[in-house]
Amino acid sequence: MTADELRAAYIEYFTSKGHAEISGASLIPENDPTVLFTMAGMHPLVPYILGEPHPAGTRLVDYQKCIRTGDIGDVGDPSHLTFFEMLGNWSLGDYFKREAIALSYEFLTGAGWLGLSPEILSVTVFEGDDLVPPDEESASVWRSLGIPEDRIHFLPKSDNWWSAGETGPCGPDTEMFIDTGSNRCGESCRPGCSCGKYFEIWNDVFMQYNRNADGSYEELERRCVDTGMGIERTVAVLQGKRSVYETEVFVPIVAAIEKIAGVKYGDDEKTDMSIRIVADHIRTSAFILGDDRGVTPSNVGRGYVLRRLIRRAVREGRKIGIDATFLSTPAEIVVEMYREAYPELGKNASVIAREVEAEEERFLSTLKKGEREFEKLLPNLLKNPRRVVPGRVAFRLYDTYGFPIELTEELAREHEMEVDRGGFDKAFEKHQTLSKQSAEKSFKGGLADQSEATTRLHTATHLLHKALHVVLGDHVKQMGSNITPERLRFDFAHPEKMTPQQIARVEALVNEKIAEDLPVSMKVESVDRAVEEGAFAFFNERYDEQVKVYSIGDFSKEVCGGPHVERTGVLGRFTIVKEQSSSAGVRRIRAVLDGSA
Ligand code: ALA
Repeated sequence: MTADELRAAYIEYFTSKGHAEISGASLIPENDPTVLFTMAGMHPLVPYILGEPHPAGTRLVDYQKCIRTGDIGDVGDPSHLTFFEMLGNWSLGDYFKREAIALSYEFLTGAGWLGLSPEILSVTVFEGDDLVPPDEESASVWRSLGIPEDRIHFLPKSDNWWSAGETGPCGPDTEMFIDTGSNRCGESCRPGCSCGKYFEIWNDVFMQYNRNADGSYEELERRCVDTGMGIERTVAVLQGKRSVYETEVFVPIVAAIEKIAGVKYGDDEKTDMSIRIVADHIRTSAFILGDDRGVTPSNVGRGYVLRRLIRRAVREGRKIGIDATFLSTPAEIVVEMYREAYPELGKNASVIAREVEAEEERFLSTLKKGEREFEKLLPNLLKNPRRVVPGRVAFRLYDTYGFPIELTEELAREHEMEVDRGGFDKAFEKHQTLSKQSAEKSFKGGLADQSEATTRLHTATHLLHKALHVVLGDHVKQMGSNITPERLRFDFAHPEKMTPQQIARVEALVNEKIAEDLPVSMKVESVDRAVEEGAFAFFNERYDEQVKVYSIGDFSKEVCGGPHVERTGVLGRFTIVKEQSSSAGVRRIRAVLDGSA
């Protein structure tokens, strides 16, 4: 089954069950300042889930274009995408768990529909917590449909709870997985494991609560169902493909890139990775530019996300040997593939081609200027018997021409030279400090607090951030940080109160890393590279092309302006003095350091 066929079958199935087909919304959310892009089919429906009557009735179905840039660092692997289509059906105070699950089951296994064998289906349901009891009802529906006990898994909130965002409608969910048969991690593997055996294809959310800004929950007036099935992933698994890039959704885009670059997908893992990144990013860019409320590349907000996607595609293109502008060709293919399902793409086709090319040209001209300048410097550089490009020279290329350090390094390598990275980092830092000081002077503000005590707490904050990831999971996201010489305060996304055991584990882990006296090091690189290397960074934030990345041993890596201590041993003893709610879905930790050196 192709993506077009799946989209059509889904709509046909749910309309045959009394659902009205509504059209999906723009990628640019209306009246929602909390997100840059529409991230799920339910986002445009939030007012109706909260009680507003929908003009089309109480049973709805649609397909929705979605963008999620939180996973940008994972793009290039076989399944992560920044743009995807989501199929969804909704009950607004109409049916609830029993019927929703029965509908899902029939669509998945019914002969006229997907016709999947029930034997390969596994499901998860919510295991319960202080607020909501275990979802026995969903489990019993699955049992009554013939799913055996050992394929019904009860999982915690981190797996089986869905919310629109920090605030808004939320509730327990039940997720459906296909067992691909390839068991890679033995007996303990279950849905939710990332080894690739279980592939999630559908999520039925039972919206029962609204989460308020103060973190409290209130029961919704009427209970709703919100479901979501990602088209790209689902067709990949239906077609037995290892990766979304091997389906007809990507094959024509990949083929265009292969042709331009003169390379073959599948020959070399590094090349494949670049091709996948280009394919993903140009597809997303075409949808952003082609949206009726679309934006063009800029240095803020959505425009900046678009700029980064296009520039990253250009750089990946260069890695596989493409030097000229090329992205409008795969962009045109995206338009042709999707103009029927999304007529706005056809309507805006010329804007897409024009803007993609203009942004490519801007970036290429930056790169060319840098290269020309490098060529001019070359005769002198080659005189240096150590074959080292001084850091200040690399910095000048960056500062004057916007030429990224990684590219200077590439050019240097072509001439069997190396760049003095330490020198570059120092020049970068010095420049930053100077411009910060002059900015502060011109605003007559006091100098930012860079006292020893604050600096130590700043390094402790990085240790804490990483320790929270280790103990609680990768959903932990920094939402805020405030440091005074006395204490640190750290806000992070996490759906529930930490248990005393979790607090103790986090504290112990931070103290262990202090005891190890780990070195703290800094290097300057592009945000993309930093994220690729696993550094914590916030994609939706605006960064300069080059950023400072602080590493603490092998334990933590973060994009950050500094300053930091040189070794963790000087921090003393780390104690969490309070863990409390900060706002909806956000926890706040206050911590101190005692007896620091
Ligand atoms: N809103 C739910 C999701 O995105 C269905 O998974």
